[in-house]
Amino acid sequence: MKSSCVATLALVARVQAGLRFGCSSLTTQRLDPVVEPGRTPSSHVHHIVGGNAFNATMEGDVGERATCTTCEMSEDFSNYWTAVLYFKHPTNGSYHRVPVVNNAALAPGTTGGITVYYTQFDFWDDNTEKQPIKAFPPGFRMTVGSPTTTDPDVAKSNVGLRYNCLQTLLDRGRELVDFPDKPCPAGIFAVQHFPACWDGKNIDSPDHQSHMFNTMDRGGFMNAPPCPESHPVRVPQVTYETVWDTTKFNDMWPEGAPNPFVWSFEGTSGYGTHADYMFGWKGDSLQRAMDTEDCFYDGCGSITKQAMSVANECTVEDFVGEETDGWLEYLPGQGPAN
Ligand SMILES: *[C@@H]1O[C@H](CO)[C@@H](O)[C@H](O)[C@H]1NC(C)=O
Ligand SMILES: *[C@@H]1O[C@H](CO)[C@@H](O)[C@H](O)[C@H]1NC(C)=O
Repeated sequence: MKSSCVATLALVARVQAGLRFGCSSLTTQRLDPVVEPGRTPSSHVHHIVGGNAFNATMEGDVGERATCTTCEMSEDFSNYWTAVLYFKHPTNGSYHRVPVVNNAALAPGTTGGITVYYTQFDFWDDNTEKQPIKAFPPGFRMTVGSPTTTDPDVAKSNVGLRYNCLQTLLDRGRELVDFPDKPCPAGIFAVQHFPACWDGKNIDSPDHQSHMFNTMDRGGFMNAPPCPESHPVRVPQVTYETVWDTTKFNDMWPEGAPNPFVWSFEGTSGYGTHADYMFGWKGDSLQRAMDTEDCFYDGCGSITKQAMSVANECTVEDFVGEETDGWLEYLPGQGPAN
């Protein structure tokens, strides 16, 4: 028992190596330069953080084109986005956007946003050799999960896509495959872990996923088997965490009624959770971070940080110009006119 405790501690220490930082909310609108490039508006609303090169179409070296970022790491001009959680009123059917609040232990001044991880060391067992980690190339993009997932077995098998019913910001309770079935005292926590094995050639693929391979089998932040021959290149394991502040809707959720929260694509089950990534680190800044061993929280010694008061000044245009907040009769893009 004693030795297994020690082993567990060693494992925990190792899997936490990498970057973790906050990016304040940048914009909430209907754009999706990965899945629906050029389309304004895209099919459903997204919550987006990161650099100001964000646009309906994003080609080339984003890290060179952007001039500011809402992320604490000032060389990170990537964009990170997910669908948006809405509350659907159980009796009158109106929708209201659920606000995003800060996660625990981020830099002071972070507003809403997404907590981003680039984990280094979670893909080998104690006795396997460390694989070098290669940063993504300019133009790289990927998605994880799909709004069309309705099969619970598919959702269960993707162990990187989960929810928690927050008791407090630090007491997350157990991980759930679907939305919580009772009101959560401190909100709904959504996590998306991306795959970390790349084919080494393609910066994208038709489904935005098949250039990547997921070896994660025991859950997020756990050791996973090595990358396969088809996707031999170990890239950083990217993870998003979002805290949806559902608390102000809790008293409109009648006892015993089904979960009233839906994803912005009218996703009434939680299985359709998904996330999009657009790489945009400047120059070799991400590679330098990944080449630094066993760093966590500190910028890996090589990354420049900015005050969140500066990060929060970064903005993008509202390209779509539609109401996404307030009480809405239909989810944007989901009404009968669409
Ligand atoms: C967004 O993309 C459009 C079309 O490519 C372009 O005309 C516009 O300048 C871009 N805006 C920003 C702020 O990058
Ligand atoms: C539904 O209920 C909410 C909360 O009471 C209210 O603000 C909203 O206007 C209602 N919608 C309709 C269509 O009555």
